[in-house]
Amino acid sequence: MQAAETFQATLVEFSKQFDQLVSHYDHTLTHRTALEQLINTYSAFITNPANQVAWERWEENLEEFPRLVEDLRRKSAIAVAIMEKYRAFRLQQGDSEITDYFMNIESCIEQEFGSSKVTSDSKVLMVGSGSFPMTPLLIAGRTGAEVVGIDIDDEAVSLGSLVVKQLGSQFNIRLEQKFVEELIFTREATHIIFSSTVSNKYELLDQLHALTIEDVVVAMRYGNGLKSLFNYPMQEVDEHKWQLVDTILRPNQVFDVALYRKA
Ligand SMILES: C[S@@+](CC[C@H](N)C(=O)[O-])C[C@H]1O[C@@H](n2cnc3c(N)ncnc32)[C@H](O)[C@@H]1O
Repeated sequence: MQAAETFQATLVEFSKQFDQLVSHYDHTLTHRTALEQLINTYSAFITNPANQVAWERWEENLEEFPRLVEDLRRKSAIAVAIMEKYRAFRLQQGDSEITDYFMNIESCIEQEFGSSKVTSDSKVLMVGSGSFPMTPLLIAGRTGAEVVGIDIDDEAVSLGSLVVKQLGSQFNIRLEQKFVEELIFTREATHIIFSSTVSNKYELLDQLHALTIEDVVVAMRYGNGLKSLFNYPMQEVDEHKWQLVDTILRPNQVFDVALYRKA
């Protein structure tokens, strides 16, 4: 039980630190080092196999489990979105140093769609493109595909557009603050990627069934178990609409990928 108690105390401490650093965000770089360090420490905690055992023991025994997990998931999602803003600000100042979290995203791109590869003819929609649209940049850069990113946060869309202008003006990338149903591109997309920290991603997947082409492939980033402390987990889908065709498990990375096609 001792291990489970220590584990819970660590999570409570992470939760407090996220609260503190998220509330300090003031659209400047003042608190960025502390937040980046916290996210790197948290990423290492989530991917440490030793914590998997403690997670399982803790999950079984504690009543307050769901609340703390939901809090951490929500707070860490906000923290990561802020870290992307910091990185966009730093790029504007000429600094493009990369953190462990961003390496996690980069390492995913090659595997993301399994055998349904993105080519120069593909049209890729990213839901939750963020203030530093690493995924759209890498996909467009490596494949020549047309990529559209959408985000609900207007600051993320404006910062993200500056990043794209600076790092990928030669690529076919567009960012918009729109909902999937408002976007004509949704009806043309051959590939769709969901950011793991989009809380309503499974509702959107359900909605997308009626809006997309027959052959569309959807890459849903997610995290179950210990990884659900940092990601929204996989959910059941309506089997008349979507079929889970593959899961790409990435043991040393913060999120995994589930691939869906129309049933
Ligand atoms: C961590 S970031 C983006 C991922 C990263 N930039 C990449 O390239 O892989 C997640 C973003 O999702 C956005 N987001 C959250 N919920 C959303 C929703 N329902 N629709 C669109 N964007 C959403 C947040 O505002 C945030 O900017």
